[in-house]
Amino acid sequence: MRNIHRRTLLKGAVATVIMPAFTRASTSEILLRAKPASVQLVDADHPQTQIWGYNGGVPGPQIRAVQGDQIALRLSNDLVQPTSVHWHGLRVKNSMDGVPGITQKAVLTGEEFLYQLNLRDAGTFWYHSHNRSAEQVARGLYGVMVIVEPDAPDVDRDIVVVLDDWRLDEVAQISEPFGNLHDHSHAGRLGNFIHAMFDSLPAQMATNERLRLRFVNTATDRIMPISLRGVSGWVVARDGMPLKKLEPLGILTLGPAERADVIIDVTAEHDGEVLLIFHDRNQGYVLNDFRVSGAAATVRRPKPTPLSPNPIETLVSVAGARTIPLRMQGGAMGDLQEGLYKGKMLSMRDLVGQGQIWTLNGEAGLPVEPLFETPLHATIVFEMRNDTAFAHAMHLHGTHFQEVLPNDTFGPHKDTVLIQPGEARDFAFVADNPGKWLIHCHMLSHQSAGMKTWFRVG
Ligand code: C2O
Ligand code: CU
Repeated sequence: MRNIHRRTLLKGAVATVIMPAFTRASTSEILLRAKPASVQLVDADHPQTQIWGYNGGVPGPQIRAVQGDQIALRLSNDLVQPTSVHWHGLRVKNSMDGVPGITQKAVLTGEEFLYQLNLRDAGTFWYHSHNRSAEQVARGLYGVMVIVEPDAPDVDRDIVVVLDDWRLDEVAQISEPFGNLHDHSHAGRLGNFIHAMFDSLPAQMATNERLRLRFVNTATDRIMPISLRGVSGWVVARDGMPLKKLEPLGILTLGPAERADVIIDVTAEHDGEVLLIFHDRNQGYVLNDFRVSGAAATVRRPKPTPLSPNPIETLVSVAGARTIPLRMQGGAMGDLQEGLYKGKMLSMRDLVGQGQIWTLNGEAGLPVEPLFETPLHATIVFEMRNDTAFAHAMHLHGTHFQEVLPNDTFGPHKDTVLIQPGEARDFAFVADNPGKWLIHCHMLSHQSAGMKTWFRVG
């Protein structure tokens, strides 16, 4: 096991913040007011941090609803910039997807937009700004959505754990500027304050207690490898979608925007502890520790069964599917010489002059014409190839895809996948949601520096 240091990355800070109480979605509208606010992000020895958040907090209100519900959310913009909300991982109608310039106009200061969502899938999802997102999400414009299964598994506690990474100065204020060229051309804007925010913080845990933890990596660019000590458990869902086969819980690596639902049993004994650890270059940092006191039961429960599947199509074959190459290039230590940007071929130097550093299939930024168009119900295979020196968290809007594995087998449904340098992996989906959809890197610094494109279904 690795070294464990009792500190987070920003010196002195041990971070535990409780999120605002959740909002139970009902037939009435939920208001999401995007506005500046100050919150106690770091410990009480530091001043409050000025953020931008929904309804004055970060994360924004947690939206809890039941699978099958229809909900309405009114975004009202009290920011100095236009904004929009994207419902990450939810299979919504295209006009509700929240992408300025593609599915709606950005919502200007003082204006509103009403989002109406049909919650087809149960699971752990999140929402965030999709305008200038590298800045707006870094400032705190995000929240979690928990869509409850009608037959939710039996656990003692169900807890949302948001993992975020902030770049703060000595007085705990968000460092500016955004869009620094060095960040954008490397691993993105990495912060110096990594923390875990629990929506309800157990004062202590008990032996044999069973918890469901819903991890959400909301960081703009940071990959989060985490683990838990003093428990044994299983990953039961990824990106909101139940796994057919539970995975034993080891180190869980979540790229930006990825989620994992984990069911754990506390195995530590009375007076022991449960640790949440962030792993970085062979070091472990304790993000949170929980004292174990007493026992919830004398014996552990039996292994949980998989969650009921969501009503999304599962692939059985990609025979005859249309393949779409998706080649990632650019960035520092890459060999990109030139790229298309706004219809013009530019040298790498001129691209950088435009803040564009990454390309998909040789083009930076959103192309005028879609990357491809497909009739409804066709099967599409993205042949992803990472020809860069950095990992990318590739995110598909509108549906989930599955990795194409040997012998007509397929990986779990995912909406965001971490593709390491040099990797070539294929992901397939059935194009059953009509409209204009993005596919982009969810390292939001990379996205804003070019790594995005779109396609049309139907
Ligand atoms: Cu979570 Cu296009 O975004
Ligand atoms: Cu990237």
